[in-house]
Amino acid sequence: MVFTKDKTPRKPSKLYREWNPLKSKWCAAIRKGIEEIIPPKDAVVLYLGASTGTTVSHISDLTDEIIFAVENSAEMAIPLIRLAEKRRNIAPIFSDARDIEYIKKAMFGKKINILFQDIPSRDQVEILIKNSDEFADKNTQILFSLKTQSISQQNPDRTYREVTEKLKKHFLILKNISLDPFHRKHYFFVLSKI
Ligand SMILES: C[S@@+](CC[C@H](N)C(=O)[O-])C[C@H]1O[C@@H](n2cnc3c(N)ncnc32)[C@H](O)[C@@H]1O
Repeated sequence: MVFTKDKTPRKPSKLYREWNPLKSKWCAAIRKGIEEIIPPKDAVVLYLGASTGTTVSHISDLTDEIIFAVENSAEMAIPLIRLAEKRRNIAPIFSDARDIEYIKKAMFGKKINILFQDIPSRDQVEILIKNSDEFADKNTQILFSLKTQSISQQNPDRTYREVTEKLKKHFLILKNISLDPFHRKHYFFVLSKI
């Protein structure tokens, strides 16, 4: 509880809650030492693969700016929309992350500082490239959570190496780590556009 000058208690404007690395790849990457991805207060975020908003809610605590939260499953989008009703800085976008034109319309031309993607699909790299081509520039921090098993059942290290080669054609790789032991067979990349 926070107290005002006359000692009357008031609710804090934001509640900081425990952020669990087992439930959030973004948090796991910070716990593994990538502290530069803690979003600043003025970060505008495009978040692809928002699910019910577990991680989105923590990002909403940290930035005063807006988070465009894209999710394509109705089952996940309903709790996300309910969360957005309680927060002033979450804009849920019920859409396939591949539908750039729809996302563009929903964002009303707002420029982003951070592009984050956590989409476990076979074409996750292509989705990232498409979105960064449209929404990112050289100053955008691009955060990519890779789920190797969604691309191939082969050895995860091999998929990781193949994806790294693909990413190098489009991005500068600033950091890349395994998210083990929080998320097995997952990797995390901090990228910027070439
Ligand atoms: C691993 S969950 C994301 C968890 C979330 N990032 C968090 O930390 O709270 C992946 C989400 O991506 C969504 N998804 C999968 N394919 C998608 C697509 N093409 N467009 C948008 N969302 C997609 C899934 O429905 C799922 O909710």
